[in-house]
Amino acid sequence: MRKLVRMRPIELDAARRRLGACHDVADLRRAAKRRIPKPVFDYVDGAADEEMAVAANVAAFRAWRFLPRVLTDVSAADTSTVILGTTAAVPLALGPIGYTRMMHPDGESGAARSATRHGLPYTLSTMAATGIEDVAAAASAPGLGSPDLWFQLYITKNRALVHDLVDRAAGNGYRVLVVTVDTVVTGNRIRDKRNGLSIPPELSLQTVLQVATRPRYWYRLLSGPALDYANFAGIGPTTVMGTGELFDPGISWDDIADLRSRWNGKLVIKGPLGAADARRAVDLGADGIQLSNHGGRQLDRTVASVDLIAPVRDAVGPSVALLVDSGVRHGADVVTALALGADAAVLGRAYVYGLMAGGERGVDRAINVISEQFRRTMQLLGVSSVAELRKGGRELLTRA
Ligand SMILES: Cc1cc2nc3c(=O)[nH]c(=O)nc-3n(C[C@H](O)[C@H](O)[C@H](O)COP(=O)(O)O)c2cc1C
Repeated sequence: MRKLVRMRPIELDAARRRLGACHDVADLRRAAKRRIPKPVFDYVDGAADEEMAVAANVAAFRAWRFLPRVLTDVSAADTSTVILGTTAAVPLALGPIGYTRMMHPDGESGAARSATRHGLPYTLSTMAATGIEDVAAAASAPGLGSPDLWFQLYITKNRALVHDLVDRAAGNGYRVLVVTVDTVVTGNRIRDKRNGLSIPPELSLQTVLQVATRPRYWYRLLSGPALDYANFAGIGPTTVMGTGELFDPGISWDDIADLRSRWNGKLVIKGPLGAADARRAVDLGADGIQLSNHGGRQLDRTVASVDLIAPVRDAVGPSVALLVDSGVRHGADVVTALALGADAAVLGRAYVYGLMAGGERGVDRAINVISEQFRRTMQLLGVSSVAELRKGGRELLTRA
């Protein structure tokens, strides 16, 4: 028997065992759901109104089929690429997620360290629970590699606050400013309302019942530093209920012109940009466009961003950086995005499921899974480099 059956070594580290059993983003999502209280899981997983856009985003990536080339020698396949002037190991970046420390205490710092370890950019949200300075310090820890930090900006009503954030991002080595333009008012998140979500989570009668089912989450949350909007310490809201007043329905293209004159680094506009708006952003000096419908969390029924790639690429020409988020769950989605004309894909929920499943190591797992899927898909398509994928990509795709 011993000759026929070899015992697999037993993994004693529970987190490693759990994450090792996650082979795709759906596995990470399931592992996260088992560990995280429902209101917090739903805050990440949920979207606006009837949640049509979030489902349609995923479906839109999957509406494409590959037309592989064979016998092309892909033994030296190289996944590296240049995003906004800096080399990344894979055409991927981690996107901005507000209040990441609520999902796991490793939070923004853990995600930034993981991105840096994998040679990828990390975007810090305006609404982060860890501040600009602390994340810069975490990502610069010895042995991780050279960080590529981006800062996501909401143009708040208080413009002095905006200018302060921009100056602090510049002063702390953030290279790219990503201005989110789809949040003039907050999206209507029904799951949060039904769950009575409060941010930071409060021990109400409802949540006390959840402590019994998710004690580790509550222990971690209550034994760590208090949650707050760290970038506004002392000057802004401390709970999500106070943020409605923060966003400015009056923002306009003049604000983009103002930011362009203040920010010397790369400037990216993030939102559901069609061809005309993308062209306008570029005319005002944007270096890149991040096609996004906020993962369906703002305007439900918004067109899937993957469907905007080809028309926007045609409108802005080859030199403008085109990023895409909303619905990226698999390395094959990244291949599809690039084949259609994008330069990189940006992860949102895909890495937060990993974070909720196992902290920083869970983010590592999400990045590794998606990177391996990307490489394998590229090779099976008969493609050896990202440049080749970008150049001949549209011939590799057909509609399902
Ligand atoms: C929990 C959560 C918080 C988010 N917070 C922000 C934010 O603070 N700023 C921002 O520009 N986008 C934010 N987003 C949107 C993401 O950056 C990204 O556009 C979206 O997650 C992409 O959709 P996907 O997660 O379905 O792929 C958030 C998304 C989630 C899921």
